[in-house]
Amino acid sequence: MKTFDCILIMVFLLVYAPGMRGQAPGHNGHTPGLRAEKNGDVNIIPRPLEVRMTDGAFELTPATRILVSPDMEQLGMYLQALLEPSTGFMLSVDVLQDESSLENAIVLNLDYGGQQHGEEGYALSSSPDAVVITAAAPAGLFYGIQTLRQLLPPQVEERQVVTGVSWEVPGVEITDRPRFGWRGMHLDVSRHMFPVEFVKKYIDLLAMHKMNTFHWHLTDDQGWRIEIKKYPRLTEVGSQRAATPFPSDRNTLDGKPYGGYYTRDQIREVVAYAQERFITVVPEIEMPGHAVAALASYPELGCTGGPYEVRQFWGIADDVFCAGNEKVYGFLEDVLTEVMELFPSEIIHIGGDECPKVRWEECEKCQAMIRREGLADEHELQSYFVTRMEKFLNSHGRKIIGWDEILEGGLAPNATVMSWRGMEGGMEAAAMGHDVVMSPTSHCYLDYYQSQNLEEEPPAIGGFLPMEKVYSLEPVPEGLAGDKVHHILGAQGNLWTEYIPTASQAEYMAFPRACAIAEVVWTQAELKDYEDFLDRLPSLLQHLKALGVNYRPPDDGSSTKKQ
Ligand code: ACM
Ligand code: ZN
Repeated sequence: MKTFDCILIMVFLLVYAPGMRGQAPGHNGHTPGLRAEKNGDVNIIPRPLEVRMTDGAFELTPATRILVSPDMEQLGMYLQALLEPSTGFMLSVDVLQDESSLENAIVLNLDYGGQQHGEEGYALSSSPDAVVITAAAPAGLFYGIQTLRQLLPPQVEERQVVTGVSWEVPGVEITDRPRFGWRGMHLDVSRHMFPVEFVKKYIDLLAMHKMNTFHWHLTDDQGWRIEIKKYPRLTEVGSQRAATPFPSDRNTLDGKPYGGYYTRDQIREVVAYAQERFITVVPEIEMPGHAVAALASYPELGCTGGPYEVRQFWGIADDVFCAGNEKVYGFLEDVLTEVMELFPSEIIHIGGDECPKVRWEECEKCQAMIRREGLADEHELQSYFVTRMEKFLNSHGRKIIGWDEILEGGLAPNATVMSWRGMEGGMEAAAMGHDVVMSPTSHCYLDYYQSQNLEEEPPAIGGFLPMEKVYSLEPVPEGLAGDKVHHILGAQGNLWTEYIPTASQAEYMAFPRACAIAEVVWTQAELKDYEDFLDRLPSLLQHLKALGVNYRPPDDGSSTKKQ
């Protein structure tokens, strides 16, 4: 950077972004001199680190310019595309120059903030003259844009021109950064499948909530949903099931064939769409259990040799990949090779949950493998299986994550654990020095009922998980040693879809509980406050409504509070 630029930028920051002025954050993450207002007049979810209201407001007009640091044009275009449909303003996007006037501009300002807010942090300053978002990295600018979006009237989300709205951004100084690096939502597309358009909408909603991980559960007993070139039967056979249980009567089948899968091109499209929104798509290929759709396609991969059919009922199947058959390892390596081609994510989910051992106990090949490898039992055989897949992925520069059952029989050396049966598995793994993502059923299973008034809810899998409980999740378990806390990467909400046949119902189950998850993973623990969250929520719900999201109105009346 030229000296002249530096001087200009210093002046510019002094005028427009006092919140960023060169102070290092305190040990607790607070920038001295600023306090986090309780709510104030802005309603941002997840709650930012620091918010200070200032005088005046910025008004978006057709003449507003988007000015971006060099190479940030794509983000400028993203912002332009976000604002254009509702405002009708096609704002110009230009590269910020030394001589640029900042009058009536929205500035996406890379690097000027220094590193103190990390790759994902940002500062946002709005005044009658300009809105300035500064960040050390593009992701931070992106999150600043998401905040700007929530500062604007909710009609900004409409996909058609809205007249009679004053597109004002209140005067505000915000500094913000996330608490956790893994801020995720999961979607099961095996039990029910959703169109690519919906997957993109889901990704957009995650991005709006400053989440950065989309866990895509692509294979399970009831359907294989990813095209694999080398094994066409996975989709010819494995993506189709003969019938599905009725949501209202899980023991009776509807008799209707159900199926579908995502082509390689569709997957590339989704991954690219997510990348533009700073979201990593973590694919999940289930093994060694939850594999019946694969076995139906290639029966030789099971212990008994089949025949198998794609499972119609929900639940856990005894039939799993044979852990004593070299062909199975070759098959999975081939599948994962194609998965790696499609998904740039460093981390790949290999499932690992709910793998009954009954077939292995009776299988000659599995027993021979146990003897050959000197394993104590079938649990160690599972560990052998997972460790072997881990070695394969590690040798290609990737890492594995698996559900907490992968702890049984010995954890693979470099594995990350997704703790779902509670926090204990995650706690144990973190204490052993492994990375952990928390998604305990107690707080994160968004397929559970949202109300105890079951007659008024669509049939769900069971449970009761109100939003307040979701919000109360503290991902770092009490008692975890201080030097192990960094192993808690974050948390995610899971959306299993046995009882979620449509996209609209997926939205109903996910929102607004996902809004609570967003605050769990982004906001510093000491700033979390459920009452304050409920005060801010109606504004976000108005945005979701304008986006056509079929969220469940909260019971507590907060959807009508502070409209
Ligand atoms: C799971 O819910 N079976 C991971
Ligand atoms: Zn076997």
